[in-house]
Amino acid sequence: MNAGNKSDQRDAKPDQDGFWGEVLHGLAQSPKRIAPKFFYDEVGCQLFEEICQLDEYYLTRTEIDILRKNSTEICRALGPKCLLVEFGSGSNVKTRILLDHLFELAAYVPVDIAQANLLQCSVRLSNDYPDLCILPLCADFTTDFSLPEIPALVQRIVAFFPGSTIGNLEPVDAEAFLRRTAMLCGPGGGLLIGIDLKKDPNRLERAYNDARGVTAKFNLNLLDRINRVFGTNLRHQNFRHHAFYNEELGRIEMHLVSMAEQFVQLNGTRIAFAEGEQITTEYSYKYSVLEFADLAARSGWGVQEFWTDLEHLFCVLHLVAR
Ligand code: AVJ
Repeated sequence: MNAGNKSDQRDAKPDQDGFWGEVLHGLAQSPKRIAPKFFYDEVGCQLFEEICQLDEYYLTRTEIDILRKNSTEICRALGPKCLLVEFGSGSNVKTRILLDHLFELAAYVPVDIAQANLLQCSVRLSNDYPDLCILPLCADFTTDFSLPEIPALVQRIVAFFPGSTIGNLEPVDAEAFLRRTAMLCGPGGGLLIGIDLKKDPNRLERAYNDARGVTAKFNLNLLDRINRVFGTNLRHQNFRHHAFYNEELGRIEMHLVSMAEQFVQLNGTRIAFAEGEQITTEYSYKYSVLEFADLAARSGWGVQEFWTDLEHLFCVLHLVAR
């Protein structure tokens, strides 16, 4: 156990038990699994920022373009006096586009599992928007959570879920998530959501197998995180990054593949890896606009309008809760 790392303790604090229990449970299963939310420790957040700059990773850049080009129309559609709730607040670039154009925004509630990052971003944001009411919430938005007290002037609760992060959820879980979000926002509430569209599999696979190997590093960083917490010695050179598009299921799959037979002790549990055995670390589902509208309709939402780029790589939708 590496007790000297203060930032790590801060990071693991909000949900320590469930968190590490989940890792243990996932590695005891067959096939082995670790949920992608575990990527985002401080190093993981940095690596993800780096991924967003990559030529091959068109998602972030394209979504930002869509938001910029349509900011006036989008913010008119969302309406005045919104309570803007953002899931997985990340770097805030996209948020700022909305903050700059929303009319009489009541308050901004960033919700993120990574506490250090959440607070850092909130401080930076409040420096640039001194009049904005920011109510950061450290929570795992894949589970049930409630909003802080809602200021009286709020006219409409609008959730903002950019980045196609919903693609990390399997369709049944995405449905449950959308249903919970509809409850959270209430009838007439809004959801502004980004999804990555189905496209040429080669283009998709390149986005998750970049030439500089940043995505591989991002994936392998999970091993470092486990090592720090459990005192294990899982080595990068004993695993390799593997990402491919599963066309039948419409998803990118990321795995860590064990290059040899190996064993580790995790809190007294012996975990065996066969040569070639995989840990599934991420699914990233891709949708067509119609498929996603269907999913939304099954989960209490109607599509009000959507915006996409010229190449139809990515789509931002405005949903309204029924
Ligand atoms: C943050 C879920 C949108 O699925 O593209 C980037 C994360 N994983 N490269 C995605 C990710 C590998 C990403 N999301």
